[in-house]
Amino acid sequence: MELNINLENMRLTAEELAAGKPDASSALDRLWSGREPMTGWVQAPLHRDEALLEELLNAADLIKEQAELLIVIGVGGSYMGAKAAIEALPKTDTAIDVKFAGINFCSEYHRQLSEELHKKETALCVISKSGNTLEIRAAFDFLKAEMIKKYGAEETAERIVTITDRETGSLRAETESEGYLSFEVPDDIGGRYSAMTPAGLLPMAVAGIDIRALLEGAEAMAVSPAWDTNGMDYAIARKLMMERGKKIEVVEFYDPRLNYLGEWIKQLYGESEGKEGKGLFPATLSFSRDLHSMGQFLQQGSQIFFETVIAVDEYDLELEIPQGPLKGKTFEDLNRAAFHGVLEAHKKSGIPVAEIHLLRLDALHYGQLLYFLETSCAVTAMLMDVDPFDQPGVEDYKREMHRALERED
Ligand code: PA5
Repeated sequence: MELNINLENMRLTAEELAAGKPDASSALDRLWSGREPMTGWVQAPLHRDEALLEELLNAADLIKEQAELLIVIGVGGSYMGAKAAIEALPKTDTAIDVKFAGINFCSEYHRQLSEELHKKETALCVISKSGNTLEIRAAFDFLKAEMIKKYGAEETAERIVTITDRETGSLRAETESEGYLSFEVPDDIGGRYSAMTPAGLLPMAVAGIDIRALLEGAEAMAVSPAWDTNGMDYAIARKLMMERGKKIEVVEFYDPRLNYLGEWIKQLYGESEGKEGKGLFPATLSFSRDLHSMGQFLQQGSQIFFETVIAVDEYDLELEIPQGPLKGKTFEDLNRAAFHGVLEAHKKSGIPVAEIHLLRLDALHYGQLLYFLETSCAVTAMLMDVDPFDQPGVEDYKREMHRALERED
């Protein structure tokens, strides 16, 4: 495994981790069995659909030819994987700008997007598995009307791609009747595990990310022999933290490009584990910025949390400071000093700290990380005895919101 997982500062013994192995192994076996619902993402990296990959790359080329701006309309699992990767990873110079909608009910946000839509050649990509999420419906109907004002109905239809369920939902019906280009979110993969399906891959490809390398990374992680040794220890450690009364997992980054990965992790962990009164509340911090605020709480505040640091080990670019007291040091020298200094200080305060080291911030290693986090999260949820793949709370709020909207009428 090219990811390096270091749990030596978790304040757990080797025996405690080893005791969790049998249950974690059987959870992993269940994920791989092909018999558990919504586990299509587990084996997907091993059966890469080359024809689909080509279709996605062709669709991305088409969008890049016709547009300078792609507005992706999606929420939750239907946009976070793409958004996080686009913020984090290097892009080719053929990329176009990708913006997101469907993530709020703010008129000013949509007014600004529509202003851009009228200034730049634009395409829309609507992603919704169910097809009836209100944020998505509202943004799509608003932006589609603006597109029709600009391009007319026929050309607008040529500038819309949908990614939705194969059969059900209003978006599928509309796709068929309007003749939009379309891709499917597989039936057996839920929103928050869909980053490496068309839902994540098409926007990433348009943004110039090497999606083939990303999938190769996921494949390398899926078949890594490390799962038989220490690959599951992070999942076991998280479960043990919960049992020890820790309520919060603070996930920390030392590279601002990973901040949105934190949003993706919050969705993955929060929605997979937070049910039946269980789960760790996932929080994220961006260092060094937040050391100047929450750093104080971490070190001396209420110890209801443990930390998981996601760090990048090697950088191609290391800019040197040319003058002053730090002359000759690079920004990464300072970042490494921050990492080691904070670790020492937090160890002294008795905070359990897990480390996940990514060798480089490129598509290959990022694909490894995504697969590792998805699998670890599913295993922890199973160890907590909750279903990692349902979201009854989210569905409940969606139903109540539809009712509240009807009452408004
Ligand atoms: O992970 C999930 O299942 C959710 O976050 C959904 O992705 C989100 O609610 C959007 O749902 P849909 O894709 O059906 O519009």
